[in-house]
Amino acid sequence: MNPLIIGNWKCNPCDSKKTEKLFSEIKKGLPKKLKAKLVICPPFIYLKDLTGRGLEIGAQDCFFQDGPFTGQISVSMLKSLGCKYVIVGHSEKRAAGEKDKIINLKLKSCLEKRLVPILCIGETLKQRKSNQTSKILRRQLEKDLKGIVKKDIESIVIAYEPVWAIGTGKACDPEIAKVVKMMIKKYLRELYKTDKVKIIYGGSVDAKNALEYAEAGMEGYIIGGMSLKPKEFIAILNNFC
Ligand code: 13P
Repeated sequence: MNPLIIGNWKCNPCDSKKTEKLFSEIKKGLPKKLKAKLVICPPFIYLKDLTGRGLEIGAQDCFFQDGPFTGQISVSMLKSLGCKYVIVGHSEKRAAGEKDKIINLKLKSCLEKRLVPILCIGETLKQRKSNQTSKILRRQLEKDLKGIVKKDIESIVIAYEPVWAIGTGKACDPEIAKVVKMMIKKYLRELYKTDKVKIIYGGSVDAKNALEYAEAGMEGYIIGGMSLKPKEFIAILNNFC
């Protein structure tokens, strides 16, 4: 199956001109026979400029309700712009205080409005070192997926993003990612009796290591730093022609 490749631009670029340049360089460099589903997730403020221009566009976060919620951007708003994907529960949001209860509501809102949520889960270095990875991931899944029913689960993409591998250049050993993927699959099989949920990997992915994750069975990538460097990003995509 073709991999899903998410470019998460995070809080970049800093202005519209640089955004336009980055977007057009990526678009120009796209391999003609790309056998992957590519989704670019820019900051909210650039979504309107970039949707409907030939690349799939997603958001980096969402809010689960319309109404008196100052500063929030709802799933309905994202949908009205043509977004089909939303990152939910990124570790950078969790580190800023986002709780599983809110992540759960965001997931449910995405599912209700038929946007594909990319649920990010992952352990910190301290948790990995104290052999808590499996417990932490299970707990995140349990809380984040609470009340989500079987018919919806296959619409969610799960991104394994070990916190210690994000932006550090210390990518997770593909064999470790493989073990985690099997653990997530086992959990979903137990709970939902399905094998169809896509599991992708994020954390210091580059052109050199990307294929190793595919070989380890990961079904796609969520890429931060390298998605801001058109040459490197295209080099990653070139692995999938
Ligand atoms: P890096 O690719 O910069 O490690 O970031 C990964 C990430 O957080 C994607 O969501």
